[in-house]
Amino acid sequence: MSGAPRIALLHGPNLNMLGRRPAGHYGTVSLRELEESVRAWGEERGMRVVPFQTNHEGAFLEHVHGLVGAVDGAIVNPGAWTHYQWSIRDALELLDAPFVEVHLSDVEAREPHRRSSVIRDLAAAAIWGKGPEGYREALDVLGGLVS
Ligand code: DQA
Repeated sequence: MSGAPRIALLHGPNLNMLGRRPAGHYGTVSLRELEESVRAWGEERGMRVVPFQTNHEGAFLEHVHGLVGAVDGAIVNPGAWTHYQWSIRDALELLDAPFVEVHLSDVEAREPHRRSSVIRDLAAAAIWGKGPEGYREALDVLGGLVS
C-alpha cells in the first residue's frame, strides 16, 4: 500500500458512551477525544488513523469486511464482544493486516468473564489497563510491523 500506513481504529458497543461510563475503569475522556488523540499520535508516527465505532454487531462485521485489503493495521477494542463474540473473531481473522487488541480498563483485575478474549491469539499484541496510553503503545507496536 502506498502513502502513509492506514490504521483502522475500531471500537465496539458502549464505547460511544466513554466519558459517562464508570470513571474508575474508563477514565473521563470521551470517544471523540480519544479518537482525536489517537489520530494525532498516528500523525506523529506518519500513520493515518481511520476511526469507526458501532453498537451493532452486523455493522462491525461489514465494516471489517470493507477493510480487508484496505488497511495496513488496526487497533481494536471490541468492548464486551471481546469476551464471547465469535463472529467478531471470524471477521478479524479475514483482516490481512496485524491488529492490536486494546482495553482501557484492567480486564485481568475485574470480573472473571473479562479475563477471556476470543481474539487474543489473533492479535499481534494485547494491551489493557493503561487507559488512552494503551492506544499510543498500540501504534508503536504497529509501527514496528507495518512498513
Ligand atoms: C473494555 C473492557 C470490556 O470488558 C468492556 O465490556 C468494555 C470496555 C475496555 O476498554 O476496558 O466495554 O473493552
